[in-house]
Amino acid sequence: MSITKNVALLASLFLCGCVVTVNDKVLVGKNRVVAWESKLVIAHRGASGYLPEHTIAAKAMAYAQGADYIEQDLVMTRDGEVVVLHDHHLDTVTDVRDVFPQRARADGRYYVIDFTLAELRQLAVSERFQEIDGERSAVFEDRFPLMQSSFGISTFAEEIELIQGLNKSTGRPVGIYPEIKSPAFHREEGKDISAAVLDILSTYGYTTMQDKVFLQCFDPFELQRIHAELLPAMNMAVPLVQLLGSGPDYEPLLTDEGLQQVAAYADGIGPSMFLIVGQESRASDLATTDLVERAHGLGLAVHPYTFRNDQLPAFVDDYEQLLRIYLDDLDVDGVFTDFPDLTVAFLESNL
Ligand code: G3P
Ligand code: CA
Repeated sequence: MSITKNVALLASLFLCGCVVTVNDKVLVGKNRVVAWESKLVIAHRGASGYLPEHTIAAKAMAYAQGADYIEQDLVMTRDGEVVVLHDHHLDTVTDVRDVFPQRARADGRYYVIDFTLAELRQLAVSERFQEIDGERSAVFEDRFPLMQSSFGISTFAEEIELIQGLNKSTGRPVGIYPEIKSPAFHREEGKDISAAVLDILSTYGYTTMQDKVFLQCFDPFELQRIHAELLPAMNMAVPLVQLLGSGPDYEPLLTDEGLQQVAAYADGIGPSMFLIVGQESRASDLATTDLVERAHGLGLAVHPYTFRNDQLPAFVDDYEQLLRIYLDDLDVDGVFTDFPDLTVAFLESNL
């Protein structure tokens, strides 16, 4: 939608008193309208196109590049600390195999939940790699070199303190976008990760719909539990985002009825970008779905993932074209990106 059309629509809706705001975004009845300048740049694992994901350095860079929100994937340690890592395994982003060679489980993997925070502090964090027969190779060839410099694992609290500290020193209000990872796995291991995450959010002042936070999870049952039980019990209400993958598990949530159920407990969806434009699309023939339109019709914000300058879908020639399709033509409300700088530049150059 053009800026002019947005402004005209918003003006008429303000006049009829139908507008409320959440997280500085504009909600119009059950139809959310997001002005171009309010579209969100969500730093996916930080500025992870440039520095190892989920390191404090990657988060500081994302902040400096102008991201609106910075993402934290969260898992738990043996001693109950919440740390910022994408996987509940350690072996694809750290030197755990070298430091604790005896601590793999029978499947050969090293689980965060088997280590204390003090032990995790001994590990070096690297750009993501795969390891075959002891040979490591980068997942993204042109990114930061493997096992270089000095990076470590941070707790969720430490990362919030970084972002809140920068908010104070720069005067710019950047939000957090935590994701609860594998709640069922954590429960089997005797941990309630959602309760632990909400405790930390409460400690740091993220307790209302107006605070700069979106709480995301792939597990719909856990999000419903958070909405119906945990948040009310803690006298909290923060915006929830239902993540949606491309696999068959998510098909029920993508039907009209499924999306209506999602809208009863969540404020937004975070779909794979290929649920909006089919991966098999060609530039001349985009297989576009109506997911954005249907979600907006239910008042749900739409924040697809993951926008990468170095891993473009076959249906675009460059990153700008990708952003134009999703942010402009299809009107999503924000994007998860490994390249916050390029995304901020795109939005600013089109204002
Ligand atoms: O949370 C949005 C996006 O990050 C989901 O994918 O696997 O990178 O956590 P993943
Ligand atoms: Ca995530």
